[in-house]
Amino acid sequence: MVVNDSQTPRTSSRNPRWDDPAYRAQLAAEKRAQNKKRNESSRLYPRVTAFRARHGAISDAKQRIWNEYWPQLGKNASDTELTPADIHDWFGREATTVLEIGFGTGTSTSEMAQAEPHINVLALEVYKPGIAQLLARAVREDIPNIRFFRGDAVDVMESMLPAAFLDGVRIFFPDPWPKARHHKRRLLQPGTFELISSVLKPGGILHVATDHADYAEFIEETGDACDVLIRRPEGLDTPAPMSLQRPTTKFENKGLRAGHVIHEFVWQRPPAPDSNGIES
Ligand SMILES: C[S@@+](CC[C@H](N)C(=O)[O-])C[C@H]1O[C@@H](n2cnc3c(N)ncnc32)[C@H](O)[C@@H]1O
Repeated sequence: MVVNDSQTPRTSSRNPRWDDPAYRAQLAAEKRAQNKKRNESSRLYPRVTAFRARHGAISDAKQRIWNEYWPQLGKNASDTELTPADIHDWFGREATTVLEIGFGTGTSTSEMAQAEPHINVLALEVYKPGIAQLLARAVREDIPNIRFFRGDAVDVMESMLPAAFLDGVRIFFPDPWPKARHHKRRLLQPGTFELISSVLKPGGILHVATDHADYAEFIEETGDACDVLIRRPEGLDTPAPMSLQRPTTKFENKGLRAGHVIHEFVWQRPPAPDSNGIES
C-alpha cells in the first residue's frame, strides 16, 4: 500500500512538454483552429463579443428590484422554445408584439411602451446594468407592457421565439464595429436579416436606425438583398402595426452631438396573400 506522506513530494501530473514554448504554441494553434471550425460550422450568425466584456455594477436598490421582479418579467437566453401562448401568458394578454433588440438603458423603450399601451414589448439586451435600469423604471412607473430577454439576440430568435410570431422588430443604433476586421461582429448581417424575417409574421415590420454612415450603407445593401423582406419606400410613413415614430435614443443623442446624420430603414415581410391571391 502506498501511503501519501505529506513530507514526500508529489510527482507532478503536469505534461513535461508544457515547458517547451514550441509545443505550447502548437497546442494554441490547434485550439484556435478547432474553435474557428466550430464557429464556422455551427453558427450562421455573428456572436456577441460585447456580452462578456461589458460588465457593470448595479446599485443595491436595482438589485433588490431585480431579485423581486426578474423571475416574473425576465427570461435569460436559453434553449427553451416558447409558444405564442407562452408569450401571451407572460404578458397576461394577446396583443400586437414587438421585439426591440439592444435597447441599451431603455430610455426610449419605456417611452414607446407608455405611448403604445396596446402593444406587448419584448425588450432584449445583453448588458445587465442597462436591463436593470429599464426593469427598475418599468416597476417604478408601473409600465405593464414590457417583458425582458437577457442574452444574445441571435440565441433568443433562433431558440426561443416562435416562427412568424412578431408584428415588429426594432433595432436602434446597433453597434457599428467600425474597423473592417470587426465587421463580422455586426449584428445586422445577411444571416441575421433572414433570422429576423423568420420570426416576423407576414406583414411584420423591421425598423432600423443608425447614425453610422458606413454601417448604414452595409445595412441598406444587406437588407435589400434579403429576398424574404421588401423595403418600404414610404419609410417612416409605412402603415405598420406599431409606431415608426420614436423618441431620440441615448446613443442617437451622442451621434447627433457629433454631427452625424441619422439613417432610418423600414422593411416588411410580405403580407400573406388572401384566398384570391391578393396580399392583405
Ligand atoms: C450602441 S448601443 C444602442 C442602445 C440603444 N438602442 C440606443 O439607441 O440608445 C447597442 C446595444 O446593443 C446591445 N447588443 C449588441 N449586440 C447585441 C446582441 N447580439 N443581442 C442583444 N443586444 C445586443 C449592446 O449591449 C448595446 O447596449
